[in-house]
Amino acid sequence: ELGPYAHFMQKEIFEQPGAVANTLEMIFNIHSISPELFGSEAENIFRDTNSILILACGTSYHAGLVARYWLETVAGLPCNVEIASEYRYRNPIADPATLVVGISQSGETADTLASLNYAKSLGHRHSLAICNVAESALIRQADLRFLTRAGPEIGVASTKAFTTQLASLLLLTMTLAKMRHKLSNEYEGKMIAALRHLPAALQLALQVEPQVKAWAERFAQKRHALFLGRGVHYPIAMEGALKLKEISYIHAEAYAAGELKHGPLALVDNEMPIVAIAPNDVLLGKLKSNLQEVQARGGELYVFADADSQIQESEHVHVIRLAEHAGLLSPILHTIPLQLLAYHVALQKGTDVDKPRNLAKAVTVE
Ligand code: F6R
Repeated sequence: ELGPYAHFMQKEIFEQPGAVANTLEMIFNIHSISPELFGSEAENIFRDTNSILILACGTSYHAGLVARYWLETVAGLPCNVEIASEYRYRNPIADPATLVVGISQSGETADTLASLNYAKSLGHRHSLAICNVAESALIRQADLRFLTRAGPEIGVASTKAFTTQLASLLLLTMTLAKMRHKLSNEYEGKMIAALRHLPAALQLALQVEPQVKAWAERFAQKRHALFLGRGVHYPIAMEGALKLKEISYIHAEAYAAGELKHGPLALVDNEMPIVAIAPNDVLLGKLKSNLQEVQARGGELYVFADADSQIQESEHVHVIRLAEHAGLLSPILHTIPLQLLAYHVALQKGTDVDKPRNLAKAVTVE
């Protein structure tokens, strides 16, 4: 079943080009995006939608955080993203025209299911499930559904579910943007081309594995790591830190790089590796000045850049560069090296990669 791979996690990391291609299959046959992709009732529901509320846990929550940037920037829609286990015990004010989006690989996460029910009881009219399991409770519960077609995910650490969720959420963003007349024909064509190219781009990103493996040897000695990102790449830093902590048991924390001087900079010394997600996005200049502050305190920087990021390698600045620059899709590509880093650090440490201690694949109890 594992083929040439040592673990399900490794296999699932390498399955991502195919998983994303399957999830976006329809995009290869159409020239324009339509709400039909989300079911026959989607057009009416989307027409009534004036904002989005995303509910999820763990890695799926991180996918929601990325989607917020897309929905605001491309579709001009207000978007809130909530941890399901928190939302369900708050007293939020519901707007019936806010579409509730539940994101879950398993579709059985107790808190996510309960939070969707709670949202409905508060007066939210409609819900959409983005889920990897067709016969799950979440799919049955929601009004609209979109299946990620990642195939079964066996490794406890979520990998291909995350990138297929992101691909789905980008499709949702494009659909809502189009219905709200925020998508020019030219931009739509460009985005469809970019989505079609995504599987090949992921394949290229996977080629950094040997470089990441070399970094992993150094990380395995560490007890702590900081992950930094800004804007749409801040949630990617969060996902990278979650992957590292859950399978290698190294304490990893993610910060929005602009927050550094509000506290975490005190942690920085030459023992603390700092991972930065630094593709050429609108905030790269800001991120670079944050990184200089880290360097000035003796921090060792491990930077994931892309083809267009102007970042120089130096004695304490190590750079792995992805071969392309992916614009809006860049968070999807930058996930790959972070998954590989967590995987190879865990291998070095000899932990049970597919079944990390204390964790279960589907969290069906509160
Ligand atoms: C992390 C991980 C978990 C899940 C979370 C939600 O690698 O796998 O954080 O993402 O338990 O699970 P789903 O997506 O099944 O609702």
